[in-house]
Amino acid sequence: MAENSPQDAIALLKADHRSVEELFEKFEGAKGDGAKEKIARQICLELTVHAQIEEEIFYPACEGKIEEDLLKEAYVEHDGAKVLIAEIEAGGPEDDFYDAKVKVLSEQIQHHVEEEEKRMEGMFSQARHAGLDMDALGERLRARKAELVATYQSSGLPRPEPTTFTEATV
Ligand SMILES: [Fe+2]
Ligand SMILES: [Fe+2]
Repeated sequence: MAENSPQDAIALLKADHRSVEELFEKFEGAKGDGAKEKIARQICLELTVHAQIEEEIFYPACEGKIEEDLLKEAYVEHDGAKVLIAEIEAGGPEDDFYDAKVKVLSEQIQHHVEEEEKRMEGMFSQARHAGLDMDALGERLRARKAELVATYQSSGLPRPEPTTFTEATV
């Protein structure tokens, strides 16, 4: 789908999930430090933008409409991912734990994506049933995503900001 076509919020967020899953797969098969680093940086960029648009736009819209526990866990899972993203961004393939960090990040994301996409009780399904305006949200997500990608591509990723962690430094 072209970048500018209208897309409902859930379709947009799911497409982001598929894109990052593909990148994790590519990372596993990549040969050479240069290729690995390039893919890992793309993973960090995409996940940072994705988590940010969810936290700025989608999750607040879900507030009060879906199970509160599920929403809270999603924020904490994002913060867990931000720790690994900061580590991967600051490191490189020559580091002893680089591949392990990317792998663990992929496992954490896989779990998180399941919680969002699970049929019936997942976050997206609950949000859909609650009657959120997915077209309007999709448009806001698309616009903010384009803005963030442009900014981060030109200036690099900012240090991730935890939303729920009060003790751990990201
Ligand atoms: Fe997501
Ligand atoms: Fe998420």
